[in-house]
Amino acid sequence: MNIMSSVALLTGATGQDGSYLAELLLDKGYEVHAIVRRSSTPNISRIDHILNHPSLADSFHLHYGDISDGEQINKILQTYQPDEIYHLGAQSHVKVSFESAEYTGNITGLSTTRILEGMRNVKKKTRMYQASSSEMFGGAASPQNEESSFIPRSPYACAKLYGYWMVKNYREGYNFFASNGILFNHESPRRGENFVTRKITIGAASIVAGKAKMLALGNLDATRDWGFAPEYVEGMYQILSHTTADDFVLATGKTHSVREFVDEVFAYIDLDVDAHVTVDPRYFRPTEVESLLGDARKAKGVLGWKPRVSFKDLVKIMVDADMRKMGLSVIGEGDEILAKHFPNKWWMGD
Ligand code: NAP
Ligand code: GDD
Repeated sequence: MNIMSSVALLTGATGQDGSYLAELLLDKGYEVHAIVRRSSTPNISRIDHILNHPSLADSFHLHYGDISDGEQINKILQTYQPDEIYHLGAQSHVKVSFESAEYTGNITGLSTTRILEGMRNVKKKTRMYQASSSEMFGGAASPQNEESSFIPRSPYACAKLYGYWMVKNYREGYNFFASNGILFNHESPRRGENFVTRKITIGAASIVAGKAKMLALGNLDATRDWGFAPEYVEGMYQILSHTTADDFVLATGKTHSVREFVDEVFAYIDLDVDAHVTVDPRYFRPTEVESLLGDARKAKGVLGWKPRVSFKDLVKIMVDADMRKMGLSVIGEGDEILAKHFPNKWWMGD
């Protein structure tokens, strides 16, 4: 353990964003601690490569814990006294939140209070990042920025809005350095397989591999502002490195429909959409967020944060990765985009 390193504590390190963020912080010389829940099947596939890395593994420490357990969070905070906390752990699936509304409130909402309360017992001035979401804007008019109304349209969005307000309250009430990153959708080859972009890229690769014939989706008309996850974790780091605690929207400023994402994926690998894609109402939501489009001018102006990967680039990066994972030959434009935009790539592999 390096005594001079800054210490970061992560929740959600086994997820898409947490795995990239762990790599980013380790690359910057942090000592990283992560709260990981025990599961009967392995849940560390996204961070396995870090745990086996010859020079990074010694700075990366996993602690069993659940973000429903305030006592364990307190214990970890008091033992490791982190300089920074990135609270990314959540039940993060919007559709699932309609089926598990109370659970989502507990895990996605109340966990933020557990972290904030735990911070009151930490001696040093810890900085805290809250993974807030564009889902909180829900039905608000586009484009959405830090001044827009919140009209949440799911139990997940309501839970995230509760966390958002708790962060603002502790910032004002206790002078905490606590910041909300209000992130619009961001994707990658590490995206969970039941979010729509990854479901589409895996589905298309499975069709090419002859493992599937059809891909069933829900609402194809919804539009999202989709960016590339590694750029968004860079934004998280910039938000906590800023001189003052504040709230920032991170987004690309472009929106596309689910149908456009399908079209782009299928065109890239020369598949016929009509022959392979069906709509199944099982995937519809009781209330839908029809359109999200972010205005990230504040983050650009104050932090200098600006995403480089376009919608078409994102599709190519994700399709190449899923084709490769299935042992198929890869077109390779995604690899070229990564080499162009990230010549000094700090994350490892897909
Ligand atoms: P993700 O891939 O679903 O990861 C969620 C993480 O939370 C996983 O590490 C998961 O652990 C952990 N977790 C869930 N329940 C837990 C519990 N009870 N105790 C401890 N850990 C628990 O999500 P993501 O896409 O990386 O997103 C990161 C955060 O940003 C989430 O809070 C999400 O809501 C928010 N967000 C995401 C986006 C986006 O577009 N990706 C946009 C805005 C906000 P397991 O691996 O064990 O399941
Ligand atoms: N998941 C899924 N599966 N979504 C589908 C499908 C399908 O088969 N078919 C259509 N969709 C539509 C959804 O109805 C939604 O309008 C859109 O695709 C995106 O759905 P998801 O990829 O599940 O993401 P999300 O926008 O609901 O939520 C994600 O982004 C939020 C930020 O805006 C998650 O990462 C949240 O955690 C995050 O806060």
